[in-house]
Amino acid sequence: MSPTRPLLNDTGPLADATTPWPYPFWIAHRGAGQHAPENTLAAFRAGAALGWRAFECDVKLSADGVPYLLHDDTLERTTDAAGSAGALAWADLARLDAGGWHSRRHAGEPPPSLDAIAVFCLRNGLVLNLELKPVPGDEERTGHVVAHAVRQRWGEAVRDGVGVWPLLSSFEPRTLAAAREAVPELPLALLLDTLAPDCFDIAERLDCVAVVLDESLLTAELVRSLHHDGLRVLAYTVNDAERADLLIDLGLDGLITDAVDMFIPSA
Ligand code: G3P
Ligand code: MG
Repeated sequence: MSPTRPLLNDTGPLADATTPWPYPFWIAHRGAGQHAPENTLAAFRAGAALGWRAFECDVKLSADGVPYLLHDDTLERTTDAAGSAGALAWADLARLDAGGWHSRRHAGEPPPSLDAIAVFCLRNGLVLNLELKPVPGDEERTGHVVAHAVRQRWGEAVRDGVGVWPLLSSFEPRTLAAAREAVPELPLALLLDTLAPDCFDIAERLDCVAVVLDESLLTAELVRSLHHDGLRVLAYTVNDAERADLLIDLGLDGLITDAVDMFIPSA
């Protein structure tokens, strides 16, 4: 597919939210997870080669507590192994093929550690939206360990003004709470696929800077009200140009997309 529409800018429409916002408007989903196997370094390389500067990816823990990238609770869809994604030690996970399911040319691509992704992003000036996706039962440990890993990996670059903290998001409030407690300075975002009556109170209690909503939930009134409350508003996963235009007109602060060759992330 060839690029069809340049975008207006790279920082998004101005919102009336007061939270400083260092993140690009356009965010590639799961790395650039349709061009190359999702949540692998190959996907990040594919997106970066197309000019993308911001990436969403999913992080969870190995049995021995190493943060690594994988979407599902189990291994079978995106690796050559089966069973719980939290059952193997990192040494065993690192030997898996997380690329062969996608295409022959990516066969042998390993699941990446968060460390490897950090090195690639920092070296190339890329920004992360790190979705904490704990395997069931590992909610608190995941928040705690990932937050410490982020501080260790990004802290120096952030202090020196040459890097931006990853935006840590999760559907799981317990995970965000554990991250908040472990490293209070990290920016958090609550992910929402439905609007429960107390969902924005939870975001406020966790001192989130943003909420990331399923794109179907968004209305102009909701965006206005969230901005009024000082929250940035992002949407996932927007792959349709007309829908993207509509959401941009609502004044969103970020869009997460798989369509990395249709949308162009900088003018
Ligand atoms: O972070 C936004 C989006 O990735 C949430 O859904 O299932 O693609 O991780 P999922
Ligand atoms: Mg995700």
